[in-house]
Amino acid sequence: MTIEVVILAAGQGTRMKSARPKVLHEIAGRPMLAHVIATARALAPRAIHVVYGHGGEAVPQALPDAGVNWALQAEQLGTGHAVAMAMPAIGDDARVLILYGDVPLIERATLARLIECAGVDRLALLTARLSDPNGYGRIVRDAGGRVARIVEQKDANNAERAINEINTGVLAAPAVVLRRHIAALTNDNAQREYYLTDVIAKSVAEGMTVETTAPEAIEEILGVNDRFQLAYLERRYQQRIARRLMRDGVTLADPARLDVRGELDAARDVFIDVNVLIEGRVTLAEGVRIGAHCVLRDVMLGASVEVLPMSVIEGANIGAGARIGPFARIRPGTELANDVHIGNFVEIKQTQVDAGAKINHLSYVGDATIGKRVNIGAGTITCNYDGACKHRTVIEDDAFIGSDTQLVAPVTVGKGATLGAGTTLTRDAPPGELTLSRAKQQTISGWQRPVKKS
Ligand code: UD1
Ligand code: CA
Repeated sequence: MTIEVVILAAGQGTRMKSARPKVLHEIAGRPMLAHVIATARALAPRAIHVVYGHGGEAVPQALPDAGVNWALQAEQLGTGHAVAMAMPAIGDDARVLILYGDVPLIERATLARLIECAGVDRLALLTARLSDPNGYGRIVRDAGGRVARIVEQKDANNAERAINEINTGVLAAPAVVLRRHIAALTNDNAQREYYLTDVIAKSVAEGMTVETTAPEAIEEILGVNDRFQLAYLERRYQQRIARRLMRDGVTLADPARLDVRGELDAARDVFIDVNVLIEGRVTLAEGVRIGAHCVLRDVMLGASVEVLPMSVIEGANIGAGARIGPFARIRPGTELANDVHIGNFVEIKQTQVDAGAKINHLSYVGDATIGKRVNIGAGTITCNYDGACKHRTVIEDDAFIGSDTQLVAPVTVGKGATLGAGTTLTRDAPPGELTLSRAKQQTISGWQRPVKKS
């Protein structure tokens, strides 16, 4: 059966106190609206229509690849009016699912159930029972328990306000039914708005059955009106991710202290310590251990890689058994082969390091190719930038770079070569030899330290 989705996203969001349209505020690093679109997409609908308005073109511009139909609602005259903006693009054979762009945690399974309830010829509402139903539209049922209508809080009498079954706003209905009733909506109510909810009573009057179903968890239907609610749903969303990771065999030192803003694919027996931030696409192979306070963005870590605390790794591919940190910074374009060791206060970018090489202390290695088993001493710097261009440093297999060496690129250190400590290398070092550049050491015998004259 053909589904079309309408996502309402034209509202203002005054309480966010923001120049940014509300639906572009982020959960897990992605606009709320993008979450709703992704969930809708999982239902394989024929089309997704997003009704935008407040914030103007900023909303479609922020999601250029969303693959949706954008319908402008220039003036926000109510939810019924909003849906009317999308109706002309919807086929008569569709079942229409209505979602809100500021209700980001709705789940695919709940929506699939709602659509099931609607069948081909019924209207289905997602409702919930809340201990505090304040602010929501209430579900009014007849003596037989059948849904009769929805009354908005502002239009409700005291008896109706006592009803604790609320309208979440999410509903599914045949396109023809919606089209007919939306065209007949009026705004003679407390808010002078065209209420989508008035479609319910109109459908019942025609003898249509209105079904209801409830979400699995209340967080699914919670909307965001202010930054506190946004932060609350962020935590709920992160908790979902943590639960999924643990179910798949990952140990989290504290599931409340992990933030995933992207896609994390973690194999069995991965261990993640507290306050780790994951961004972009991150893949962790079996047995990887991530220490406390690390940031990983767009990285792939091979089996049993160990990242020690306070390390920041971005755009890197790291082979099995490597050990990184603590306090390491690995920048984009870095490829580390198996069993490489990168120690504290080491920065690496655009560099390939072959198996078993070690860069353990206080170094900057950029635009370099490092061979197998190379040992780079403390304080080594690749001088890769001449103020205009970047140049490469090549260090071949089994070379030993003494501490406090500067490699002025472009320069090559041959296989098995040794550089003496303190060398400033400006020409290639031949393989197998010791190369050093160093002022001769001398001792001035009998020299006296100056003394302070009194
Ligand atoms: C609506 C429902 C209410 C339900 C509640 C759930 C109606 C009349 N009332 O109330 O029964 O309990 O949601 O939160 O439908 N929007 C537009 N254009 C508009 C108006 C709204 O796009 O002209 C969008 C908003 O951005 C928001 C959603 O529709 O995403 C709901 O709007 P909101 O003003 O929050 O609806 P309520 O009046 O709270
Ligand atoms: Ca609302």
